Amino acid sequence: MKVSLSILTIDYANVEKSLSNIIDDIDYVHMDVMDGVFVPNISFGYSFIASLRKLTNKTFDTHLMIMHPQNYIEQFANAGSNYITFHVEADCDVMETIKLIKKNGCKAGLSIKPNTPVSEIEKYLPYLDMVLVMSVEPGFGGQKFMMDAVDKCKELKCLREENNYNYLINIDGGINNITGAYVKDYVDLAVSGSYVLNAVNPVENLEKLKNL
Ligand code: DX5
Ligand code: ZN
Repeated sequence: MKVSLSILTIDYANVEKSLSNIIDDIDYVHMDVMDGVFVPNISFGYSFIASLRKLTNKTFDTHLMIMHPQNYIEQFANAGSNYITFHVEADCDVMETIKLIKKNGCKAGLSIKPNTPVSEIEKYLPYLDMVLVMSVEPGFGGQKFMMDAVDKCKELKCLREENNYNYLINIDGGINNITGAYVKDYVDLAVSGSYVLNAVNPVENLEKLKNL
């Protein structure tokens, strides 16, 4: 299982220093963008991502928890995102937003909140490069993993096999060495924030996840 490191809980003033010991070992950097409308929290925007782009050439997995993603795709692409994932629950034309992401040279991801079934996004699956299953309510790091997400990952894996789809399956929220083990057979990568970054030894916890 690959790991996409969520930097939501990092010390933003010392981001270079905080990432320096771990950046070589991570596969993807997960950028949690929150607008205070789609979720009850505000994080950072494309300017911050553009600054981080100067520090590393790792794959940037940008997760837009914003109400109007279609208005900002160009900015997030220009900031250096590789994957741009938005929510099916957002207020936008889903198919047009997928097309816009691709037109701007990025890979397109779609995310579902804990109460949204896989059936809601089934018609978009042929066009996606990533599906992001939320295993917590989006908005905050450090929450408890919701088990229902495991069945959604299984379902997405079956659908991919049956139909020869190409999306990566990614899971986000409450991932640690225990919950990661529940999903490792059904996902390609997992987002992890607090389990890795708040650890005494972040690299050790990261390796635990990667070796599950
Ligand atoms: C929640 C975010 C997650 C989260 C991950 O809204 O999308 O990426 O911050 O953090 P942990 O691993 O602490 O749940
Ligand atoms: Zn996220």
